[in-house]
Amino acid sequence: MLSLPALRLALAAFIQPVLSASIPETQHTALSTRDVSACRLQAPAGVYLSLGFDYAGPCAPSTGTLRAFMFFVDFPDHPAPSTEDPQALYDEYFSAAPGWYAQASYGRLALNVTLEGDGSSSAPRFVRMGARADSYGWQRGLTYEAHQTYVLDALDAYTAATGRAAPTGYDVLYVVPTTRAAPISFSPTFMGEVRQRGSPSSAPPVAGKAVTIGMDAYATWKSKVINHETGHTMCLPDLYPEGRDVGLYVGGWDMMGYILGPSPDYFAWSQWRLGWISDAQVECVSGPGSSAHTLSALELDDGTRGGTKAVVVRHNGTDVLVAEARTRAGVDSASCATGVLLYTVSVATATGNGPVRVLDTKPNSGGCGGHEKNDAPLSTVGTSFTVPGWNVKVTLTGQCGSQYTIRVDVS
Ligand SMILES: *[C@@H]1O[C@H](CO)[C@@H](O)[C@H](O)[C@H]1NC(C)=O
Ligand SMILES: *[C@@H]1O[C@H](CO)[C@@H](O)[C@H](O)[C@H]1NC(C)=O
Ligand SMILES: [Zn+2]
Repeated sequence: MLSLPALRLALAAFIQPVLSASIPETQHTALSTRDVSACRLQAPAGVYLSLGFDYAGPCAPSTGTLRAFMFFVDFPDHPAPSTEDPQALYDEYFSAAPGWYAQASYGRLALNVTLEGDGSSSAPRFVRMGARADSYGWQRGLTYEAHQTYVLDALDAYTAATGRAAPTGYDVLYVVPTTRAAPISFSPTFMGEVRQRGSPSSAPPVAGKAVTIGMDAYATWKSKVINHETGHTMCLPDLYPEGRDVGLYVGGWDMMGYILGPSPDYFAWSQWRLGWISDAQVECVSGPGSSAHTLSALELDDGTRGGTKAVVVRHNGTDVLVAEARTRAGVDSASCATGVLLYTVSVATATGNGPVRVLDTKPNSGGCGGHEKNDAPLSTVGTSFTVPGWNVKVTLTGQCGSQYTIRVDVS
C-alpha cells in the first residue's frame, strides 16, 4: 500500500511536467496565487481558539472600534495609598495600548478606552471591593467561577461606590487593581459575557468579555498586557506553551507568544484573520510547481493596497506554511533579526498547544534577543529552507529595501 507522502510524491511527479509544459511559469504564478480560497482554512468545530477562519466565537471586534471600559479597584486588605491616582496609573502603564493597535492594524482597529469618571465631573477613583484580595484564589490557579466572582464583585463595588448603574454595551471591560494588591498576581481574560448580578436577562450585557489586570502588568508587561489579553478577546490563541520555555514555538515573533519579544507584531496569518490584511494582500500556493513572490514589510502600511504581506502555501485541510517579511520598523522597531520569516499554522491545534511553529532557518546559532528562534528568518539572498516532511522549499531570491522576493517550490 502507498503511504500518503509517497502518493503525494507520485501525484506531484505526474502533475508537475504537465503544468510546466502547458503554462509559462510567470503566468502560472499570476493565475494560481491570487485566488486565496484554498488557503483560507476554516476553524474546525471544537478546537478552542483555533486560528482558522470563521471561528465560532463570540469574539470582540478586530476592525473598526473596539469599545472598552476601564475602572479601578482596591481591597479592604490592600487599600490603594492616597498618593495613587488611577488616571496616572492609566497614563503610565496602559495608555500606549491603543497606539500599538493603531500601528499594528494599519489604522483598522481603534481601541477606545473609556475610563470610569469620563464624561462625569469626577476623575477616576478606586472603588473598594467587598472581599479581600486573597479570597479569589489567584495563587492557587484561578478557576472560571472564581474569576467570574471577581468581575461581578468589582461591578457591585462600582455601583455601590459611584451610585451609577453598571456600564453597558462595551466589547471589553478592564478591571485594574491598585499596585498594592499583591494577591492579584497575573492578568487573565474572562472569556464569558459579563452581566451584573441581578440584572434582568433582557438587559444588555456590561461587556462581551473582561480582562482583569494583575501585578505582573506593573512589574513586567505594562501596556503590552492589554495588547496580549485583548488579543484573546478577539479570539486569538496563546502561542506559547504553558509552563515551559515561553519561546518554544514562536520565539519572540508575536505578541500572543512572548509579550516582550523583540518582534511583537501579530503574525500575518492572524492579521489576515483579524481583517487587518485583505485577501488582495495574500498570495496562495495550493499545488505543486514553482512560483515567485514579492513580500512587503509586514510592519509598514505602504500604499492603499499595502503590497503582499503573506505568501501562504497550503499543505492540507488543516495546515499551511506562511512566509512574511519582518523588518525593524513599526511595532517591530526593536527586532534583532530581519528577513523572510517562515512558520506553519495548524487550525486543528488549540491555544497553548503550538498552533504556530516558527521554522528556524539558522538552528543552533544561539539566536538573538534572548532566544534561539529570534534570528529564524531567511536573511541572506540565495539561501533557502526546506520544510521537513512537506516537500516545500522557500528560497530568498532578492531584497530591495524592505521588499523581499522569494521563490516557492512545491514538489
Ligand atoms: C470613545 O467612546 C466614547 C464613549 O463611548 C465616545 O464618547 C467617543 O466618541 C469614542 N471615541 C471614538 C474616537 O470613537
Ligand atoms: C496535515 O498535515 C499535518 C502536518 O504534516 C499533519 O499533522 C496533519 O495530520 C494533516 N492533517 C490532515 C487533515 O491530513
Ligand atoms: Zn494569553
